[in-house]
Amino acid sequence: MNVLIIHGPNLNLLGTREPEVYGSTTLEDINAMLTDEAKRLGIELRTVQSNSEGALVDAIQAAKGWADAIVMNPAAYTHTSVALRDAVSAVGIPTIEIHLSNIHAREKFRHRSLIAPVAAGQIAGFGAESYRLGLLAAKSVAAR
Ligand code: DQA
Repeated sequence: MNVLIIHGPNLNLLGTREPEVYGSTTLEDINAMLTDEAKRLGIELRTVQSNSEGALVDAIQAAKGWADAIVMNPAAYTHTSVALRDAVSAVGIPTIEIHLSNIHAREKFRHRSLIAPVAAGQIAGFGAESYRLGLLAAKSVAAR
């Protein structure tokens, strides 16, 4: 089973970026944790981070034919990007939307996700653990 992990804009700054909201775990730590977890679950992982919307669309399109599931933290593009939503719809790969913070308990503009209606499901609010839960969810939906 192959899973693509996508990290959206500003997630390269994890560790120093608003640690009171996002925690002190770095993106490198999260990717290392996911690599270990994937090994345990028998999943092959690829990981992409970009600050650019177009590069994220390219990554979703390139996953077609390889990925059985996508775990994506679209970050700020969650709330704005028709392009990412259309890419998820277009490739038809089951996608788990994840967030470190509970977006529904934050500012109003974060409550709306353009991705959620085309995602298999959403996990939010568990810090770095959201990614591990996302990987478990990916395994479960890809096995359906
Ligand atoms: C985020 C929540 C988004 O609203 C925000 O723009 C992010 C991170 C999260 O993981 O909690 O950059 O996706």
